[in-house]
Amino acid sequence: MLKDKTIILGVTGGIAVYKAADIVSRLKKLHANVEVIMTEGATEFVTPLTFQTMSGNVVHREMFSEIINYDVEHISLAQKADLILIAPATANTIGKIANGIADNLLTTVIMASTAKIVFAPAMNTKMYQNPIVKDNMEKLKKIGYSFIQPAVGMLACGDYGEGKMAEPVDIVEYIVDSFIKKDLSEKKIVITAGPTMEPLDPVRYMTNHSSGKMGYSIAKEAATRGAEVVLISGPTSITPPRGIELIKVKTTEDMLNAVDKYFHSCDVLIKSAAPVDYRPETVSSTKIKKKENEKDELIIKYVKNPDIAAHFGKQKKNQIMVGFAAETNNLDEYAMEKLKKKNLDFIVANDVTKEGAGFNSDTNIVTIIDKEGNKNTYPMMNKREVAKVILDRVKSILDDKS
Ligand SMILES: Cc1cc2nc3c(=O)[nH]c(=O)nc-3n(C[C@H](O)[C@H](O)[C@H](O)COP(=O)(O)O)c2cc1C
Repeated sequence: MLKDKTIILGVTGGIAVYKAADIVSRLKKLHANVEVIMTEGATEFVTPLTFQTMSGNVVHREMFSEIINYDVEHISLAQKADLILIAPATANTIGKIANGIADNLLTTVIMASTAKIVFAPAMNTKMYQNPIVKDNMEKLKKIGYSFIQPAVGMLACGDYGEGKMAEPVDIVEYIVDSFIKKDLSEKKIVITAGPTMEPLDPVRYMTNHSSGKMGYSIAKEAATRGAEVVLISGPTSITPPRGIELIKVKTTEDMLNAVDKYFHSCDVLIKSAAPVDYRPETVSSTKIKKKENEKDELIIKYVKNPDIAAHFGKQKKNQIMVGFAAETNNLDEYAMEKLKKKNLDFIVANDVTKEGAGFNSDTNIVTIIDKEGNKNTYPMMNKREVAKVILDRVKSILDDKS
């Protein structure tokens, strides 16, 4: 994934230095060339040998070392970097860079580079919230430097709060995403995800097994590719991706109303949610009690919910609409029927009875069917890869329209 990319990892003197070794290991697994620059402070925590072994390259530390092959190290490093990541980034190094100080190899390389610069700050909460540090970060953001927000958690100093460096897995994901082409920029994509929930009384409800993973993966992929994303989500426990607008809803009617707010200004509507089709006709305002002296049954009358996809399919003008068909039998037939009835541009069909497909799974096996009846079946893929395939299709329809 990162083949032919050189990532310079600037390691500064914070206690989270040990996590930087994991970052190197993950980047190497993705075939990046990793060049590590350590500040003097960083070498107080971990020896360069660790990073040298992990990266397979000599660790750079000295600015005034002897010039080898007339190669001025800070200039050659700055030129060969596709991206410079500073992790952990101390308050000191952030401050120096924000104020134009280049008094060690790392700060000088950053000043001499035109590559994308990404900071993963790590520090005590009080330091992180210090207005001087905040101002320095704002100053750097304004000139296009990026920050991976630290997490809230238990810090090495024993305090609890904001300032814990983001996890290596998330930092590396951020780096990978930085190289993805922004081919959906200036497009507004509305995505529905997850189940809906229809109350019966204050403690009971009707729902389904949809986890929301597919819709959240599409939202992440779309945002990474530069789209403006509105994610309308039923109840899920998934952390939403960065940089999107999240609208949380409960019932199918709430979801319809939320889509209605954004549909007319969007370019694409992807309906990956599984809204509940029927709701109890009446919702009790108090808990329905178990009655001992009656028959052993509870009869609930359900009424039909609005069909969100069909509703917007009728109103569709220039929008691209994508739907999903999760079926247990007659997949192609039901999917094609749904595509026509709901006026979709294409439908993503999957047989939820197959292992590795459907609800709650991290993978899916999908068949994409378009308006003309063309069918493509894909092998088992993780949901982010499925999201990529779906958005590639969307992109090609958008290109044909323009
Ligand atoms: C045990 C210890 C832990 C430290 N942890 C951090 C930290 O997590 N974040 C930070 O900004 N500074 C931390 N510092 C302070 C920095 O090491 C100090 O500001 C140093 O000048 C940073 O230099 P550098 O930015 O050139 O690496 C720590 C210091 C010590 C002694």
